[in-house]
Amino acid sequence: MFDLVITGGTVATASDTFRADIGITDGRIAALGHELQGRDRIDASGRLVLPGGIEAHCHIAQESATGGMTSDDYTSGSISAAFGGNACFVPFAAQHRGMGVTETLDLYDSRATGASVIDYGYHLIVADPTEKVLTEELPAAFARGVTSFKVFMTYDLMRIDDRQFLDILTVARTHGALTMVHAENSGMISWMSDRLVAGGHTAPRYHAPSHPALAEAEAINRAISLARLVDAPLFIVHVSTPEGAGLVSDARMAGAKVFGETCTQYLFLTRDDLDRPGMEGAKFMCSPPLRDRGTQEALWRHLQAGTFSIFSSDHAPYRFDETGKLSKGPDATFKQIANGMPGIGARLPMLFSEGVAKGRITLQQFVALSATNAARLYGLRDKGSIAIGMDADIAIWDPEARHVISVETQHDNMDYSPFEGWEVTGRPVCVLSRGTRVIEDGRLLAAPGHGRYVARDRTDLTGHPGHLAPELDPATNFGARIAP
Ligand code: URP
Ligand code: ZN
Ligand code: ZN
Ligand code: ZN
Repeated sequence: MFDLVITGGTVATASDTFRADIGITDGRIAALGHELQGRDRIDASGRLVLPGGIEAHCHIAQESATGGMTSDDYTSGSISAAFGGNACFVPFAAQHRGMGVTETLDLYDSRATGASVIDYGYHLIVADPTEKVLTEELPAAFARGVTSFKVFMTYDLMRIDDRQFLDILTVARTHGALTMVHAENSGMISWMSDRLVAGGHTAPRYHAPSHPALAEAEAINRAISLARLVDAPLFIVHVSTPEGAGLVSDARMAGAKVFGETCTQYLFLTRDDLDRPGMEGAKFMCSPPLRDRGTQEALWRHLQAGTFSIFSSDHAPYRFDETGKLSKGPDATFKQIANGMPGIGARLPMLFSEGVAKGRITLQQFVALSATNAARLYGLRDKGSIAIGMDADIAIWDPEARHVISVETQHDNMDYSPFEGWEVTGRPVCVLSRGTRVIEDGRLLAAPGHGRYVARDRTDLTGHPGHLAPELDPATNFGARIAP
């Protein structure tokens, strides 16, 4: 007798689709079979039973590069994630210059503990890689289960230089951590921005030309080159251009340990959305910026072909009011407006509807992009699939249900949704976290604090042997030691 059985559903993983009941005991999947009996039961007839989504790129209870605070904390952010089919999320813990890494992680622990309805971890943002950070604090972060380190190549208050990037990649490589990068060329962006503003072009629409596609391509190429020099794994977040995606694809073909991600907004919105009356366009400002229709088609092809391992929301929720986008007043220039848009609850319904329901991607690709690959890359050993022994993190979907995305139904603390009015097919109707119902039939059933911190493992690099650049390879050269 199991604690809970899910009966009659069609189970899908990243590799298979099959009919089975799922038996759950002590929060874990204990059996896959038929006619399973439990003390509690969920009837999933006519429904898809999928691994709970893992939202691996979102900004929660985080100060922005321009100083503002996200509107979502670990409670509202996790609730919105759960309504959108997620059973786990990995927001950022952002080190700012002058802060220690341990201090940063303690701060985020205080923000997250007792607050989340789903399990969570953090990616560490490294903005100040001092000697102490490199030699003591990053290894200590890794030991506490923070096994991914993110760096920025742009934003004046966050960016690191190439040499610091190499230092961080090397520490990450030594410990088995994954380095993530926001890759845009800082000089190109500030040079373009200053010229636009000097010419009086300050409206939100000028955010797009201020962040040229070439700025992304240049930085991705440089980031990949740095990672290849030291044979370290690298994850390129929010790739927004065909050029950038092509570089990720080429690096993967060349055997580099390079992985990429694209996000909802780059598939469904364009820079025309920035071109709305008054300050409305500010709602659609994110970095890298929205591009064009041709880009959307190219990014779909890269999703289909496997260039991207993960599909994320980059949920960066700043309200359209004085606490967020309009904090510098109604006449702010595009340079003064917080970057980012919400979408943690819309990510999976949008991808399911436009991807699976329209036949652009398979259900297996959907599961891989939404959960399984994030679990393997970010060391969430017990999550991301439906298999015996794994956490019973499960999302049950009605694949036919139609609904309209609206800020009213996102359950976040935002006052707009960039996807307002999209009609979608397919909806998560029940999400379980370790066998506990978090949402069911539109109701929230778990309390803040149900979600636990997950100490993550090292990145699974199976199938990605990589190789050192000849200059560093002891087999072909005298071999500069790369361990710190
Ligand atoms: O525009 C965005 N994506 N804002 C969030 C910060 C970042 O760049 O990830
Ligand atoms: Zn970014
Ligand atoms: Zn910007
Ligand atoms: Zn982001």
